[in-house]
Amino acid sequence: MLDVNEIKKDFPMFRKHQNMIYLDNSATTFKPDAVISALNRYYEEASVNIERGDYLLSHEVSNDYEDARLSIAKFINAKRKEEIVFTSGATDSLNMIAYGLMDQLQEGDVILLNYAEHASNILCWFDVARKKKCQIAYIELTMDGEVCLDKLKAKLDEYGSRVKIVSMAYVSNVLGFKQDITKIAAMVHEYQALLVVDGAQSVPHMKTDVQLLDIDFLAFSGHKMCGPTGIGVLYGKFDLLDRLKPLRYGGGANARFDIEGNVLLQTTPHKFEAGTPNIAGALGLAAAVRYLSDIGMDNIEEYEKELKKYMVEKLQELPNIKIYNPHTTSGIVAFNADGVFAQDAGSYLNTRNICVRSGNHCAKILHNLIGTDQTCRASLYFYNTKADIDAFVNACAELNIENCINIFF
Ligand SMILES: Cc1ncc(COP(=O)(O)O)c(C=O)c1O
Repeated sequence: MLDVNEIKKDFPMFRKHQNMIYLDNSATTFKPDAVISALNRYYEEASVNIERGDYLLSHEVSNDYEDARLSIAKFINAKRKEEIVFTSGATDSLNMIAYGLMDQLQEGDVILLNYAEHASNILCWFDVARKKKCQIAYIELTMDGEVCLDKLKAKLDEYGSRVKIVSMAYVSNVLGFKQDITKIAAMVHEYQALLVVDGAQSVPHMKTDVQLLDIDFLAFSGHKMCGPTGIGVLYGKFDLLDRLKPLRYGGGANARFDIEGNVLLQTTPHKFEAGTPNIAGALGLAAAVRYLSDIGMDNIEEYEKELKKYMVEKLQELPNIKIYNPHTTSGIVAFNADGVFAQDAGSYLNTRNICVRSGNHCAKILHNLIGTDQTCRASLYFYNTKADIDAFVNACAELNIENCINIFF
C-alpha cells in the first residue's frame, strides 16, 4: 500500500497549493523534487551541448543522455536502448511514426483507427491517408470504449492485406478503457499489419512491457508521468524503427553530406534526433522513471484502481451525476451533472479548489459512441487520496444549474 501522505511531500506543487485537489492528471502531472533537481542540475552544473564538444563535461553529459535512453528502454523493457528515440511528446512521436511510415504505404492501403482516439492519433493519419490515397477505417467499440476483438477481426477480414497499420491508444483519454493489446497485437500481426500504440495514458499508470505486448511502435509523453514538458518517447522494434523515414533533418542526425546532396545519416536512433535535443528533458524524464520505479508501477496501478472504484461508488450515490465509464479500470472518470454544461460544472468545481477538465478532450469523434461531445473528466494519479475524492464528491453533489449560474454573478 502506498504511503500517499509521505509521497505528497516529494511534490513542491502540494507544498505551494495545500488545499488544491488536483484531478486533471490525464492532462499533465505534478513533478517531484527528484525531477526538478535533475533539471536544475543540468542547467546549473552541466549546461553544455552533447556529442559536439571535445571537452570532458560534454562527454559526461553525452553519457548521461545515453544513460537516460537506457533507463527508458529498461522501463518499458525494450530489447535495446537504440529502440528509444527522444521526441517532444506523444504528439510528436505519433507524427514521426505516421509520416515516417508514409513511404511504405500505397494507394488503397487501409489504416485502422477507432472513434475514441485523441486528435494526436487521428489527424496525422488523416493527412498521411490523404497524401497517399489510403483509406481510413474505424474499428467499432463497445459502450465502455473497448475495441471488440471480433469487430477488429471482421475489419481485418474485410480489408485483408490492404490493412497496413492499426493505431490505437492502450488507454483512451476520455473513457479510460484499457485495451487487450496482447490479443490485438497477435491479430494484427496475423495480417502482417503494424500495431502502433499511443501510450500517453497507459505508460504513466501501469507496467509496460513492449516485448510481452509485442507492440511495433509506442508513443508517450514525459509530462504525464511526473517528467518535464517538452520531452517524449518514440519506441520502435529496431528493424521497423530503422526503416522509418526521419521527419526532420539537421545537425547531429547526419554522419556526412556533400555539395552534390549526398547525405549519410547517423544510425538509429540518432538519425531521428536532428538538432540539439531536449537534454534537460531527457535527464528529467530518466529521473521521473527512477521515481516511478521506486514506488512500483504495479503498486501505482493497484492503488489507482482502488481509488477509481471508490470514486465511482461515491458518485453513483448522487442522483444528479451521470457517469459514462463506470466499468473501465483506469483512473479516469467521465461524467456530467444533470442540466449543467460540462464547462460550467468545471468552473463550479474550481470554486471549491478542485481541478478537473471539461470539454471533448481532443477526442472529437467520440460523441458518436457516448451521445455527448462534452464531459467533465476527473483523472487520478498515485498522489491522490480518498479524502480528495470525498471533497470532490461533496462538491459534485452541489452541481445544479442554480449553483453554476451563481458563480458568474
Ligand atoms: C491518449 C492521448 N494521446 C496523445 C496525447 C497527446 O499528448 P501530448 O500533448 O503530451 O503530446 C494525449 C494528451 O492528452 C492523450 O491523452
